[in-house]
Amino acid sequence: MNWIDNYKSKLTTAEEAVKCIKSNDNVFVHSGCAVPELLIRAMVKRKDELENVTVAHILTIGEAPYTAPEMEGHFRHKAFFIGSNVRKSINEGRSDFIPIFLSEVPLLFYKGIFPIDVALIQVSPPDEHGFCSFGIDVGTNKPATECAKIVIAQINKQMPRTLGDSFIHINKIKYCVECDIPLNEYKQQKEATTPKEEEVFQKIGHNIADIIEDDSTLQMGIGAIPDAVLSFITNKKNLGIHTEMFSDGLIKLVEDGVITNEKKTLHKGKIVASFVLGTKKVFDFIHDNPIIEFHPSHYVNDPFIVAKNYKMVAINSALQVDLTGQVCADSIGTKLFSGFGGQLDFMRGASKSEGGKPIIALPSSAKNETVSRIVPTLLPGSGVTTTRGDVHYVVTEYGVAYLYGKSVRERALALINIAHPNFRDELTKFAKDNKYI
Ligand code: COA
Repeated sequence: MNWIDNYKSKLTTAEEAVKCIKSNDNVFVHSGCAVPELLIRAMVKRKDELENVTVAHILTIGEAPYTAPEMEGHFRHKAFFIGSNVRKSINEGRSDFIPIFLSEVPLLFYKGIFPIDVALIQVSPPDEHGFCSFGIDVGTNKPATECAKIVIAQINKQMPRTLGDSFIHINKIKYCVECDIPLNEYKQQKEATTPKEEEVFQKIGHNIADIIEDDSTLQMGIGAIPDAVLSFITNKKNLGIHTEMFSDGLIKLVEDGVITNEKKTLHKGKIVASFVLGTKKVFDFIHDNPIIEFHPSHYVNDPFIVAKNYKMVAINSALQVDLTGQVCADSIGTKLFSGFGGQLDFMRGASKSEGGKPIIALPSSAKNETVSRIVPTLLPGSGVTTTRGDVHYVVTEYGVAYLYGKSVRERALALINIAHPNFRDELTKFAKDNKYI
């Protein structure tokens, strides 16, 4: 059978396609903005026929109906990264979290540590050779699909065709469900809500911009701060991008010729990414655009690959940093908030890159200046995302602390210096009482 006849023979409805899911199966769901919602809705409609189905993915934007209380016993979610749509369910003990580096999520599939029975994906329509593109999210989805026993694809006319290692042949898909519906959009990471917060973001943006040199290759992590930096680097020259996540904010820098990728030492001339979180604007930008190559996360986030980029600058955010330089980005005490994502992958890669700069940037306080984010010790239960051996630059609105190779005494002094003034005295007292300084 040629691929076109093969394709036609696989066309079905979402309801028919998901009938292959059985009790006790592990189901993988296409993540990010690429969530195949028609398939998910059809799957959860079968709730009363199914028991103990695990639904796994990293961050998804959109519905997560399998985490609802009434799904208990039927579906249970496993998160490789916690998004806002599953956070409550995890913290109420109805879903599970697997702490894992983004670079290693694909290895869970390839090594059979997390076997996948069914993968639910959303891809572009096949091209003239029968290849569908994973589109806006290649990251962990291509590896998961390669390892799944059964692949069900929502084939969406509105899914961009992205280039790179981002394709699946129609012959590898068991059931195809055609649709023509808008993709879920990620409205930009929380914007400043008050003039004060705006001022904090601006100062952090300026402080980071001061450390970024021309010809650098950037990774921008998730959260409000990495995005805020973009408007302060418009005067830089020949920047490149090697990042897991690409978002709307980067488009203008490409169009204005700030990002040229010309000085990159790996994939020269190309942006390298593994997924997009953004709006239709960025979906349109990446469609069939040879300037951007998508690759799976075990390639893009591999610290050894990241390190091949000259002057690699990784910009990631955090919830708390203690006075010795331990960075927590995934939890607020025992409350699980997000995950490792690619933070340590990129921090380590940037640290090994020639001229590289790993940066942690965060506002000095939270909750309307009532809580310091530079803390004596991390809250009990907090995870260490970037260890104090890995930390280099920490940036707040009050300046830059360079910690790498510095003693605990030097670190404590540098961090107190960029802490919010309201908390400097108590931080200093703690540091003295504990003989840090
Ligand atoms: N104590 C109590 N609450 C705190 C806090 C603290 N120390 N720090 C932050 N918060 C609260 C904030 O007030 C905010 O609450 P709100 O939504 O009610 O206003 C919430 O926690 C989130 O903080 P915020 O600073 O707005 O988060 P963000 O959206 O900018 O994301 C991270 C920051 C650290 C959570 C995010 O970067 C992350 O998940 N990082 C880990 C993974 C990673 O870096 N991956 C790399 C790229 S994938």
